Amino acid sequence: MLNGIGSMAWLGAATLFILSLRGLSHPASARRGNIYGVAGMVIAVLATLLVTGGAGLQIVLVAAVVGGAIGTVLAKRVAMTQMPQLVAVLHSFVGLAATLISVSNYVSRDTSMAGVERVIHDTEIYVGAFIGTVTFSGSIIAFLKLQGTLSGKPLALPARHLLNAVVFGACVVLGYRFVSTPAGENGLYALLVMCVLAAALGVHLVMAIGGADMPVVVSMLNSYSGWAAAATGFMLDNDLLVTTGALVGSSGAILSYIMCRAMNRSFVSVILGGFGASTSTGSAAPQGEVVPTTVDEVGSLLRDASEVVIVPGYGMAVAQAQGTISEITRRLRAAGVRVRFAIHPVAGRLPGHMNVLLAEAKVPYDIVLEMDEINDEFTETDVVLVIGANDIVNPGAQEDASSPIAGMPVLEVWKARTVVVSKRSMATGYAGVDNPLFYKDNTRMLFGDAKGSVDALLRQLEAACAGRHCQLG
Ligand code: TAP
Repeated sequence: MLNGIGSMAWLGAATLFILSLRGLSHPASARRGNIYGVAGMVIAVLATLLVTGGAGLQIVLVAAVVGGAIGTVLAKRVAMTQMPQLVAVLHSFVGLAATLISVSNYVSRDTSMAGVERVIHDTEIYVGAFIGTVTFSGSIIAFLKLQGTLSGKPLALPARHLLNAVVFGACVVLGYRFVSTPAGENGLYALLVMCVLAAALGVHLVMAIGGADMPVVVSMLNSYSGWAAAATGFMLDNDLLVTTGALVGSSGAILSYIMCRAMNRSFVSVILGGFGASTSTGSAAPQGEVVPTTVDEVGSLLRDASEVVIVPGYGMAVAQAQGTISEITRRLRAAGVRVRFAIHPVAGRLPGHMNVLLAEAKVPYDIVLEMDEINDEFTETDVVLVIGANDIVNPGAQEDASSPIAGMPVLEVWKARTVVVSKRSMATGYAGVDNPLFYKDNTRMLFGDAKGSVDALLRQLEAACAGRHCQLG
């Protein structure tokens, strides 16, 4: 009876998780998606407690209160710009949990289990611990790279792919020894040695990935964490964990694939730690003159334009300039200027970063376009306003084969009549590559914090209207 109720509840929870993923696929339904996810998790925990007869209830309650409190404090404290780091840390927790559960499951195993049943169970333990450990160590390195503690440059050890293959081969051999350990003997040694090797593999795979490819790695680790959870589900004979893990694993893999296509990167290459990818760390310094501009000049450019495209990037998120940008957009549109936003798939520091910020600032969804939708239209654009973006508008990705970001599709803003770039200095972006856009004849650099610059721009647009018949606003 209890098992029947539990199975129904797990089915309900799994359905809510699917609805949650669907909701999270669009900013307009993301809040609803979150609520479905929370409801699914509450049902899953309650159903699990019901099925296990409340075993370990006190420990579960203490863990839920402590974990919930830490999660609430973290979620409130973490700035939007630090979200990718938080996500990487959370992936590492999933990986670590899978490894610890695998090891403890083996230590407290049912020694009467024999034959095929034992081989399958031990394989589940081994695979769970392997994926969990690679996810754990890889996510820690991803965290350190995103945090800036470790350099974003790819680590290119000599014969690195051979090294990965040897370590992976050793894990397979150890796995064979582990699974074929006679019933009376202890295979823990093989399991633990594999964990050490898998940890080194995770570190090396992520260290080999360069700056601009980190987004794909983060979604890949998300996928790995799902598969680690699914393997744990098989081991614990828990259908809900298998389903949820498979949902996270497959959605993460699909997202990684989509991002690889958007970045013109090979999916296999990223899984194998940059196999076949360029490890070049530099290209020739751009030539030409940098032309600074002023808020007044940008204001008159915008007022005289009929087609304006705004390209937001990481700097807009840092400066929290989206509210003012939204207000500028509203005023320009009211004055008859066609304003649209161009969103690069890896703008900012997490998938959909810019979409979330613009939605928060109430920019209408229908003027926010993806790169593929707008890239051909820059030739018809009077003014492109680049707000705190750098790598995603770097023409070097197309023009310089030796660039570390060569081949990555970018927003072709330089084809517009005038490009205004709002940033604080000539510093490089996340990939650490100089940007020839800043030296082009039709580029004007609006130096300063993006929030300060756009606030001044908004005041300028308002002042230009004051005292004369003006439709702005
Ligand atoms: P970036 O290339 O990182 O450039 C951001 C620019 O913003 C910097 O050059 C910086 O220049 C400027 N900036 C910073 N603070 C600012 C402020 N307060 N006011 C004005 N400007 C400011 O950003 P992007 O163009 O959005 O490209 C994203 C990069 O991050 C890509 O390389 C991508 O691969 C990587 N990445 C993306 C993700 C995802 S999933 N989106 C995850 C990890 C990494 P100054 O210092 O001169 O101001």
